[in-house]
Amino acid sequence: MAAAAISHLRRGAQRHALLCLSLSRRRFSATAASPIAAAARRLLSTTVDTGTSSSGEQYKPAPFDPFRAATLSPSAPPLESPPIGDEPPSSPPPPEEAVASEAAHEQATLACQEVELEGLKAGVEAVKSREESPEEKEAWWLLGRAVVNYCGSAVGTVAANDPSTSQMLNYDQVFIRDFVPSAIAFLLKGESDIVKDFLLHTLQLQSWEKTVDCYSPGQGLMPASFKVRSVPLDGNSEAFEEVLDPDFGESAIGRVAPVDSGLWWIILLRAYGKITGDYALQERVDVQTGIRLILNLCLSDGFDMFPTLLVTDGSCMIDRRMGIHGHPLEIQALFYSALRCAREMIGVNDGSKNLIRAINNRLSALSFHIREYYWVDMKKINEIYRYKTEEYSHDAINKFNIYPEQIPSWLADWIPVKGGYLIGNLQPAHMDFRFFSLGNLWAIVSSLATQRQAEGILNLIEAKWDDIVANMPLKICYPALEYEEWRIITGSDPKNTPWSYHNGGSWPTLLWQFTLACIKMGRRDLARRAVEVAEKRLSDDKWPEYYDTRTGRFIGKQSRLYQTWTIAGYLSSKMLLDCPEMASILICDEDFELLEGCACSLNKSARTKCSRRAAKSQILV
Ligand code: GLC
Repeated sequence: MAAAAISHLRRGAQRHALLCLSLSRRRFSATAASPIAAAARRLLSTTVDTGTSSSGEQYKPAPFDPFRAATLSPSAPPLESPPIGDEPPSSPPPPEEAVASEAAHEQATLACQEVELEGLKAGVEAVKSREESPEEKEAWWLLGRAVVNYCGSAVGTVAANDPSTSQMLNYDQVFIRDFVPSAIAFLLKGESDIVKDFLLHTLQLQSWEKTVDCYSPGQGLMPASFKVRSVPLDGNSEAFEEVLDPDFGESAIGRVAPVDSGLWWIILLRAYGKITGDYALQERVDVQTGIRLILNLCLSDGFDMFPTLLVTDGSCMIDRRMGIHGHPLEIQALFYSALRCAREMIGVNDGSKNLIRAINNRLSALSFHIREYYWVDMKKINEIYRYKTEEYSHDAINKFNIYPEQIPSWLADWIPVKGGYLIGNLQPAHMDFRFFSLGNLWAIVSSLATQRQAEGILNLIEAKWDDIVANMPLKICYPALEYEEWRIITGSDPKNTPWSYHNGGSWPTLLWQFTLACIKMGRRDLARRAVEVAEKRLSDDKWPEYYDTRTGRFIGKQSRLYQTWTIAGYLSSKMLLDCPEMASILICDEDFELLEGCACSLNKSARTKCSRRAAKSQILV
């Protein structure tokens, strides 16, 4: 496996040399754009604390970071933002020293890559030889039972496999988001074929035309789920063939668009490459096209004023009306993560350099926006409390015209002195102050949040343990919408009653994401505590989808049993806690390069703060 990866890198190096020649007259950073740089970017995101102690451990930056060293040099050209498809201006050929430093950089990268892959291979062996608890053995058996085959190969897992009910609705389908923890469990155990087949088969489904009432939105959308159907072969009632039947939301309850599916697909593709060393998969033309189609959808211009993605209600894990339309945190965190992962994987050629620029620009603007405007703690809430409103100017403090009366009464007492969190949504004149677990956790995992904010989020979870974990980790959001708010915001949804399902229910699948965030921040003590809480009940309760009540005491009223992502989330958490270095396949480190060298016109016109500079100053505070 290691040899394959090295030969991949060698091929990359050869292409890189050719690329340098062909691009030598162009004015853009060949260093930052080369396959070697792509490999180095992969390495940027690989160092995870492997120590055995827990509380207070800090996540350590990569010991050697050739990419940063090369791209942070003062001579590195600025990242500009021409529209996708524009030709960059020409530039003189690189000097000899630059070529020599490229070669040294290349060598170092190869060595680092090899070390990383060896470490991950050793990790897989360690996972395989672990002693499993009876709960884990049961969970593996159940996960195996959930596997779906297509034409003789395993391609995914059903959402739930509950023999006690015939009312499966669409839970007998393979959901893209639900399969991610299953995929992680399989990858950690060295069973990568199912993940590869899943990635390739879902890719085939991507370009299918989806139609809702005669309307076909743009290509690139990944389905929410798919099903394997047996259909009779033409004119023959005896012979059948299997087909994959995707659902893009056109049969889903409420016809919700699965915006998160494509983002998860990109995140999983990178994890697969890292742990297997099979980079050939991500280099395939069809896979590269798939990545681009997803990105094109996300990066295309619209009427939006913010770098965040504008989506409809229910476009992610919360796939029913819950007042999360606009710019919900969960989508932004997954978007940021997918952009980071895609940037590592996109092959560099004349056709992709502008896309890479667009990604870089969006990443820096997105991180600035979220870090600056979504973050709340005691100090910030106090600031909002004293906001002036109706400010008209470029330097307004209260940019979104938030009326302080919006601060909900629960928040003033709830916000701890130490810690804070990213709010659920931000729109003109509207802040959704609810705490959403997935978005906050994934903001930590992807480094969308600053180091200090990430620590603050975990501090808040620790301080508010009885609200967010209590009897079952973790609350999907806090607090629940009640009374009139429930009636107006959910549309009187009987499934989303207060403290149930998406409205403040507790979802054990979120455990794996909590574990990842804790590992990244050196807080495995917290993750262990949460796993212990879950372990006491999950098997006895038949692995429910979600729990109800303020403290997660009851199995959810309409909860499926034997819910696959509950099972897989538990297994992944256990394996990650024992082999924390494996978390590197999903984590991204802070990217200092993104915060450097901004040449955007915002500086010159002084109309507003430049996001790169501002983002850089954020991490220094
Ligand atoms: C529910 C959840 C959704 C999940 C699906 C299948 O609809 O809200 O996030 O993907 O069930 O488990």
